[in-house]
Amino acid sequence: GTAEIGVTGLAVMGRNLARNFARHGFVTAVHNRSAAKMHSLVADHGDEGTFIGSESMADFVASLARPRKVVIMVKAGAPTDAVIDELVPLLEEGDIVIDAGNAHFPDTIRREKDLSARGLHFVGTGVSGGEEGALLGPSIMPGGTTEAYASLGPILEAISAKVDGVPCCTHVGPGGAGHFVKMVHNGIEYADMQLIAEAYDLLRQGLGASAQEIGDVFAEWNTGDLESFLIEITADVLHHTDARTGGAFVDVIADAAEQKGTGRWTVQNGLDLGVPITGIAEATFARALSGGAPQRAAAVGTLPADTQPWEVPDRDAFVDDVRKALYASKVVAYSQGFDQIAAASAEYGWDIDRGAMARIWRGGCIIRARFLNRITEAYERDRGLPLLLADPYFTAAVADGVAAWRRIVAAAALHGVPTPAFASSLAYYDGVRAERLPAALIQAQRDFFGAHTYRRVDVEGTFHTDWSGDRSEQPA
Ligand code: 6PG
Repeated sequence: GTAEIGVTGLAVMGRNLARNFARHGFVTAVHNRSAAKMHSLVADHGDEGTFIGSESMADFVASLARPRKVVIMVKAGAPTDAVIDELVPLLEEGDIVIDAGNAHFPDTIRREKDLSARGLHFVGTGVSGGEEGALLGPSIMPGGTTEAYASLGPILEAISAKVDGVPCCTHVGPGGAGHFVKMVHNGIEYADMQLIAEAYDLLRQGLGASAQEIGDVFAEWNTGDLESFLIEITADVLHHTDARTGGAFVDVIADAAEQKGTGRWTVQNGLDLGVPITGIAEATFARALSGGAPQRAAAVGTLPADTQPWEVPDRDAFVDDVRKALYASKVVAYSQGFDQIAAASAEYGWDIDRGAMARIWRGGCIIRARFLNRITEAYERDRGLPLLLADPYFTAAVADGVAAWRRIVAAAALHGVPTPAFASSLAYYDGVRAERLPAALIQAQRDFFGAHTYRRVDVEGTFHTDWSGDRSEQPA
């Protein structure tokens, strides 16, 4: 065969990725379970490059040059396994299977083991940027072996987004590292979206501002440190007028946020690794709360607010406070997400370069943002940085906003505006910087009811107090 890369699974993401490969001059083999999608791709976009369409998996595999590079772009879970099972018997040693779907990373670890035992490379690859990114340049997070990356990497880098000429694609690490990092990307995406939603709600309720006016605020914010894709589209959405009612579009959307599961996976993994990703967790739970119809129906109009009317004396100062609270909370969410990457990297032996992750998220992906440059710089200053918040740049940036952050979280509480992500991020900030935490009391309680033992601040060793007896202390 002659095709340099193949794509099987030609729903919108696969179709656009295939077009992206072809547009970059790669001879691209294409295949879909129902051939109609393959034929329509070739008919509609054949002039964009060189496609080799096949109706059968066998012909598709035969059309590829060796080592074959096959991108699977189907639904995560069982559909991905089904395609792998059909594909693998047709492949030969050294061929590379790329799963570009939103796979759960434990599945990727399993598949990589299976395929490497058969002499094949399996590259679990995170791809972010939605439909448009797939076509015009996504952020790409490939896992797998260095050997696979050596031949595959240049192709993926070619089709990825570029920022200052630098591709938004790099080898993340072995095994499930790529899909893990994509998962955390999505968790951070949830936190970013929730923080933006809370900022919007505060501006709406605090100022009584219209969606249009708040859209203007977000457009303004998008010219500063907060500049990002999500802030930009928020301004667009808030400026959008509903054709049916003539009112603000945001007001006619049902307020129950859905999810496909990647945020939930991130939180589950945060619990497994014991990493406090509170911003991501609150964002995920906020979606669950919004969708909890029976609970909300039981509470609306029933649970008292006991709040005062909200009169904001200085509107400009308030808007600026919200901006600072948003930025500080965002730094916390990223700091936590990067902690999670570090913990998983240590746990699974992936050796992930966090600065490089921030670099490949600068373009193409949903969380692309100006401030990711700052994160890359922070990890360049100190590759082992234990806490992003403690990097001098971020410490100063948050210090500049911490008073505003407190005013906003306090005002939200006083006026009954739910800000779980703002508030929990501030609580994390205060927790992590506290010289002494009440965890000491928890340790004492654990020892009291379960003889779980404790350590002391003044003497080495582990101890137990005889709580039910004479309360003497013994070494445990
Ligand atoms: C991306 C997005 C993409 C998708 C999310 C949506 O990086 O391109 O994250 O993967 O939009 O899966 O997730 P929810 O449906 O869970 O909100």
